[in-house]
Order: sequence, then structure tokens, then C-alpha cells
Amino acid sequence: MTTGRLNGKVALVSGAGRGIGRAIALKLACEGARVVVNDMDEAPAAETIEAINAVGGRAVPCVGSVTDPEFGERFVRVALEAYGGLDIIVNNAGFTWDSVIQKMTDEQFDAILDVHVKAPFRILRAAAEPIRRFAKAEAEAGQEVFRKVVNISSVSGLGGNPGQVNYAAAKAAVVGMTKTLAKEWGRYRVNVNCVAFGFIQTRMTQALSADNAPVSVAGREIRYGVQPAMLEALERQQIPLGRLGTAEEAADGVYLFCGPESNYISGQVVTVGGGITF
Ligand SMILES: NC(=O)c1ccc[n+]([C@@H]2O[C@H](COP(=O)([O-])OP(=O)(O)OC[C@H]3O[C@@H](n4cnc5c(N)ncnc54)[C@H](O)[C@@H]3O)[C@@H](O)[C@H]2O)c1
Repeated sequence: MTTGRLNGKVALVSGAGRGIGRAIALKLACEGARVVVNDMDEAPAAETIEAINAVGGRAVPCVGSVTDPEFGERFVRVALEAYGGLDIIVNNAGFTWDSVIQKMTDEQFDAILDVHVKAPFRILRAAAEPIRRFAKAEAEAGQEVFRKVVNISSVSGLGGNPGQVNYAAAKAAVVGMTKTLAKEWGRYRVNVNCVAFGFIQTRMTQALSADNAPVSVAGREIRYGVQPAMLEALERQQIPLGRLGTAEEAADGVYLFCGPESNYISGQVVTVGGGITF
């Protein structure tokens, strides 16, 4: 059952095959948006679309890596060709590849900057011209139509996190990009905001154990997870609400910036982290 609160809107969600991105795509679709579902892995993207169809929503896939230099143009083109619009962009795709600085390679550093910073930059650059065109036509017709960009950051980018010099630098850059675009795109009535997640239950934050198989991300085998003792300490001491968040709770935080209630909020960073503050 869709609620219809985002009826008529077209949403692009990157990294929507799993975890938080999947929950965001499903949430936006449940509220009535038609969704362009991206993931670099085809089967999870197809599964998200099935889940959207099952609740009566509408979605099309755009499979591929956001780091492909042509991807931004393709993502925007799919939205325009499939649904004739472009109202909400959620830059969510990403992964972590941790090491302490003395062990971190240039490849590791560049890969994380590419996926979290350069890819959203290219997607937003590709969206600029159609957004300008839509906004001009709407202004000429005397309408004020708000569009939404939500960039995903992390508490790692706001407060730092040992082992994540690449990821923390990338997620801090997302904040600068958000604030700059809020200033550039106010004239087009685009609200550009940033949601920084705390610790959300996905494969990224699973308890590390000897049985965890490495995850294959873009042809690299990466060991995801957090030491169980660290998870326990986080829940006991650092997260005021006392537990990790669910992907659905994370998606709800993004949704706050996708509807009309946020029309006069732009350039902001909100932490969705169970009470973690900076
Ligand atoms: N889980 C957390 O606690 C947490 C905390 C802070 C921020 N985040 C951020 O939230 C976002 C989602 O993370 P998650 O926990 O849901 O991770 P996840 O691994 O569960 O899901 C990420 C999805 O993105 C896809 N993806 C990765 N690289 C891609 C690429 N180059 N092109 C297209 N798709 C790609 C993956 O295939 C996967 O389906 C990421 O930006 C992450 O950095 C997560």
C-alpha cells in the first residue's frame, strides 16, 4: 500500500540493492515516488524492485558502478526517459575499506574518495542541466516546486574514526559538497541536505568473527565488520538510545528531507545515530 505523500515524484537512489539504500528506495516508493534503483550488483537491485512492486510501487533499474565516469549521465537519463522527471536524488552507494594510515595504499584511499565523493559529484553535475530547465519552466509558470538532494555521510566524517582515514575524509567532503550545492541550487528551489548515519545494522557493521566471509566489492575482497567487543561498548556507552539503528530507521531519517516539510531547510547535516552528537 502506498500512502501517496510523494505521488508524482521521481527519485534516484544509488546503492539501493542492499542495506540502507534498499530501505530508502522502498520507503520512497511506499510514499508514492517512482524510483530509479541503482546498484552495481544486478541481483540485489532486481530484488529491491520486486519488493517495491510487491507493495504496489513503481521502479526501474539502473545497474552499474557509480564510479563509472559515464554513470551520472546514465542515471539521470534513465529517470528522464522512464518517468520524465527528476525530483529526489539520494547519494547512498558506498563501501568501507579500512586500514590504519601506515598500511593504507593509494588504491584504497582513491577507491573510497571515488565512490563517496567523485561519484555523487558526477551524478549531481549530470542533474544540473535538467534541474535548471525544469526550474525555469516552473518559475515561468509561476510555480514553486522543490526538489531534494540527500547526500549520505557518517559519524566517521564528522568526528573521525581510527582505521578510516580514507572514509572519514570522504564523508567529511560530502558535507562540504552539500553546503556548496545548497548555495548554488537555492535559486532552482533544490533543498540539498546531508544525513550522517551513526551505527546502522547492515553488513558493514556486522559482528566480526572468524566465519565472516570477505565481501566482494567492485572486484575487491573486503573484510567488513566491527569487533564484537566494540559493538557492545558502542551500545552500552556511546549510543544514547542503547542500540544500533535499523536500515528502516536510517531510511526514515532520509525521508525527512524528501517531502514538503523540509522545503525551507537546506545545507544542513543531521546525524541519524540514536543520539550521538558532536
Ligand atoms: N551501516 C552503517 O552503520 C553506516 C554508517 C554511516 C554511513 N553509512 C553509509 O550508508 C551508505 C549505505 O551503507 P550500508 O550500510 O547500507 O551498506 P551495504 O553494504 O549494506 O549497502 C551498500 C550498497 O551499495 C552498493 N554499492 C557499493 N559500491 C557501489 C558502487 N560503486 N556503485 C553502485 N553501488 C555500489 C553495494 O553493492 C550495496 O548493495 C553508505 O554510503 C555508507 O557509507 C553506513
